[in-house]
Amino acid sequence: MDFKEYSKSQLALRNGQDKVEIWVAYKSLIYDVSASRLWRKGMHYEHWAGQDLTDELKDAPHTEAVFEKFKVIGKLKTS
Ligand code: HEM
Repeated sequence: MDFKEYSKSQLALRNGQDKVEIWVAYKSLIYDVSASRLWRKGMHYEHWAGQDLTDELKDAPHTEAVFEKFKVIGKLKTS
């Protein structure tokens, strides 16, 4: 599937503080977690939305299955 690409700084604006959307990147895909009560204001336990949290999943008490119910809204630009 062809996702729209977003830069790190575009993602950073969706941190739950600067814009209404709340996005999290995981393994190059960007998920919209705005509807989640667990990501209110962009905060999830000690983690903040608006960034790539791939490397942080190992600290979570859950697997990546938590992303299944969220929509992928784009892809994180690598450059
Ligand atoms: C100390 C670290 C973390 C803690 C204590 C934590 C805790 C939790 C808990 C208790 C839930 C709900 C129950 C469940 O689905 O298992 C949850 C859901 C979720 N977590 Fe985490 N988590 C952590 C880190 C992360 C990280 C790093 C990510 C992203 C890579 C993440 C993404 C999510 C998502 C997307 C959900 C689903 C939210 C929903 O269904 O509304 N979590 N987390």
